[in-house]
Amino acid sequence: DQEKTLDGKTVLITAGPTYEALDPVRFIGNHSSGKMGFSLAEEAAKRGAKVILISGPSSQTIHRGNIDLHRITSAKEMLEKVFQFYDKIDIGIASAAVADYAPKEIAKEKIKKNEDQLTLELVKNPDILKTMGEKKTHQFLVGFALETQNEEENAKAKLEKKNLDMIVLNSLRDEGAGFKNDTNKIRIFTRTGKKEFDLKSKDEVAKDILDFVEHQLLK
Ligand code: PMT
Repeated sequence: DQEKTLDGKTVLITAGPTYEALDPVRFIGNHSSGKMGFSLAEEAAKRGAKVILISGPSSQTIHRGNIDLHRITSAKEMLEKVFQFYDKIDIGIASAAVADYAPKEIAKEKIKKNEDQLTLELVKNPDILKTMGEKKTHQFLVGFALETQNEEENAKAKLEKKNLDMIVLNSLRDEGAGFKNDTNKIRIFTRTGKKEFDLKSKDEVAKDILDFVEHQLLK
């Protein structure tokens, strides 16, 4: 029998990639499948939480009633959706791979291939998690860090910069970790602590993350 350890809590989770449109047929995106975020949502729901899952384009589906799924496309839409709910949540977990830049203009018609070179002008997207950190009142905030080098240093810097309570590092240097795979290998950092985990299925990783969150909340 599953213990309802998150009963009474509202958990918001961002998942998947964002797509930033270039024209009516093309976009800038990334390899996130949404698996990590959907596993977290399922596990939090199993533990009795009310779950708000905000996902970019992903073929993942949900299997539980107490998950309120909102599908969005771009970073701007994700930001808006998050802040529809932000005041009411207890825990926020940002597993989405948000595009850091978006095309400055979205062409109204399909871009024609006339020139040998095409230069795109990109502008910075809002940092959703950083904004959550700036507006934090009571929320417990968990970020992810997807790194390829200086992993621990970068993850800890993000924890500080985004005003988080904890950050989950996954490195593309670890085999079976990160995008698309059904597995992940994580390290968790708080302001004072660190815990390293083995390579596991994303469902198992979601359990480890939520166990860690619950432990922090009890402190
Ligand atoms: O979806 P899967 O295929 O299962 O893959 C899972 C995953 C690899 C996408 C996931 O485990 C993961 O690492 N997600 C975060 C990816 C990422 O963009 O990391 P980052 O280090 O660039 O961003 C740091 C944090 O800020 C993240 O929590 C991110 O959600 C958040 N962020 C980043 C940029 C931005 N504009 N807004 C944000 O909220």
